[in-house]
Amino acid sequence: MIVCVCNRLSDRQIAASIERGAASVGSVFRDHGCRPNCGQCISHIQAAVADARDANVGEPTLAGVFA
Ligand code: FES
Repeated sequence: MIVCVCNRLSDRQIAASIERGAASVGSVFRDHGCRPNCGQCISHIQAAVADARDANVGEPTLAGVFA
C-alpha cells in the first residue's frame, strides 16, 4: 500500500527503513533519498516509527544511533 503518494513510498518500504534503523520520519525519507512534500503521510510514518520503538522497549538496539 502506498503511504506517501508524493514519493511513492509503500508501507513495506517504510517498514524496511525502520528495520534498517530509521528512528524518525526524517530518517525514513533520507533512507529513500527523498523528502516530505505535502506532509499528509507524516502521521502514518510517525506511528510506524513509534510502534517499532514500542515493540523494542527493553531490548538493546543501535537503531537511532546512526539516524
Ligand atoms: S504524501 Fe508523503 S509527503 Fe505527500
